[in-house]
Parts: sequence; structure tokens; C-alpha cells
Amino acid sequence: MSWVIHVPATTANLGAGFDSIGVALNLYLTLEVELSEEWEFVPLSEGMDGLPLDKNNLMYEIALQVANKFDFNEVPACRVKMTSNIPLARGLGSSATAIVAGIELANVLLDLSLSLDQKLEIATAIEGHPDNVAPSLLGGCVIGHYDNQLNWIHVPIHDLIFLAIIPSFELKTTQARSVLPATFSYKESVQASSVANVSVAAICQGDWELLGTMMEKDHFHQPYRKALIPHYDALMELLNEDVYGTFLSGAGPTMIALTNEAVMNQKLKQWKNAYPSFQWLPLQVENNGVTVNEI
Ligand code: HSE
Repeated sequence: MSWVIHVPATTANLGAGFDSIGVALNLYLTLEVELSEEWEFVPLSEGMDGLPLDKNNLMYEIALQVANKFDFNEVPACRVKMTSNIPLARGLGSSATAIVAGIELANVLLDLSLSLDQKLEIATAIEGHPDNVAPSLLGGCVIGHYDNQLNWIHVPIHDLIFLAIIPSFELKTTQARSVLPATFSYKESVQASSVANVSVAAICQGDWELLGTMMEKDHFHQPYRKALIPHYDALMELLNEDVYGTFLSGAGPTMIALTNEAVMNQKLKQWKNAYPSFQWLPLQVENNGVTVNEI
């Protein structure tokens, strides 16, 4: 028996929606899975150097964790061919795709028949927050709150370009989280949450100008993390006259400009010329989440 598991990448936070808002994008991790004598991961794309190809692979570790949760000691061995165009450690949800893929591996190989809610709860418990794993599972934009229980809203998004500006250096999420403050004053919390509240309303109404304005008023993470991104202010200045707004994708270092096709067609060449060493990748929202097909 064999299966194909197809998981979309994600961007998280969208400014002030720290650990809470995420959107699925049209980059994918695809696995071709067939039963085998022993666990083996086979990389078929470039950029996968250094990924463990045995039971140390994160996807196997997650699958085993899920198996144990349902009282299985092992997951039937498989040969897993991996194809991906998601850049690693750039803030585009690559580790969340691996978590979702691991859950789906356990689900099909052990015939667990997990519900969507079970998958969401398991994935969020593993990641600690829903902003990447939930859109990978559901597609579209997901706004979520997690405190051992997940409450969420799914909002499909159409006709918006997420222009990803991807630098060549990696930034580990642990490092990007270590620069965040441990506490906020009451007054600061009220300010910070009001920016997030308006951001959510703007997403639900498709008011991208307003979302862009709110993204730059974020108090939760971007003011602290921009010190880790040398080009942060210069890119904001270059782009923000023309686009709806620009934000740090997840924990960075990728930045994403929200724009439309007309503006992008007119300006992309000029922007690329200003920063030729970055990868400029126009992406769209993937409104469908992970798929698993038996072949
Ligand atoms: N919300 C997370 C962060 C995304 O910004 O740290 C990366 O896990």
C-alpha cells in the first residue's frame, strides 16, 4: 500500500497576531509513502541537506509520539520519498509541515481515523501554538486561541499576493523568541491587543489597507526581532509606499509584503534590482489544507 501526503507551507503572525494568526501558502511538502522493511526518508529536492534520513527524522518522531498516545509501541516501517519547495528555517512553517505530516503518517499507518479536531489539538499541543499547524491542516487563514483547548476561526482569502522576500541566511525560532520581553505592562497589553483586534477584523472584512497599517503597529514581536534582521527598516521603506503592508513572516528572517497583481507587475523588477541577493517569491493563499491520498 502507498500514500501521497501533501502539506502546504504557512506564514504566521501577520503583524500583531503573534502565535495566533496564520495563513497557508502555495508551497508544499509532499511525501510518497510505501510500506517497507525499515524506516527510510529519501530526499528528492535540493535544500534538504542535513535532514535525518532515519528514525531521527522529525516526521518519524512525531508519528511515534502520536502512536504512543493511542497505545501503539511502533509505527509500521515505511520508505518516505520527500519533495519540498519550502525554504527551511526561514519563517515559512517548514517544521509545522513536518509535524502535520508526522500526524498524518501515524493516522494512515495505524488506521487511527483521527478527526480534524483531534489533529488540530495534537498538532497545537506539540507546537505550543496554532498559527502554523492550523493553516497547514485547514488551508486559508486560521485565527486560533490555545490554552490546552483550541478555539479557532477559518477565513478563506482570495486575490491577495503574499510576496515573500527570502534572505539567504537562516534564523532559528528559538533565537528569535529569546529576544522577546518576558512581561508587558497592563497599559502596553491593552495597546498591543487592540492592534491585534483590529487586524482580525480587517482580515475578516478583506480590508488589506487597514491590515497593512495594523501590521506596522504590532507591539508583540516585530519591534524586538527587527534587530536580528539587518535589512528590516530598509525593506519597509522600499516597499511600503506601494504595498498594503509588510510583516515579518513567523519568526523571520523572511519578510512578506501584501500586495496585488497590478502593483507587483509594475514594481517587482525594480524591487529585485534593489535587493538582488534575496529570493523574491510571489505566493498565493492555499485555501485547502493537507491532503492524504491512497495510490
Ligand atoms: N508565532 C511563532 C513565532 C511562529 O513568531 O515565534 C514561529 O513558530
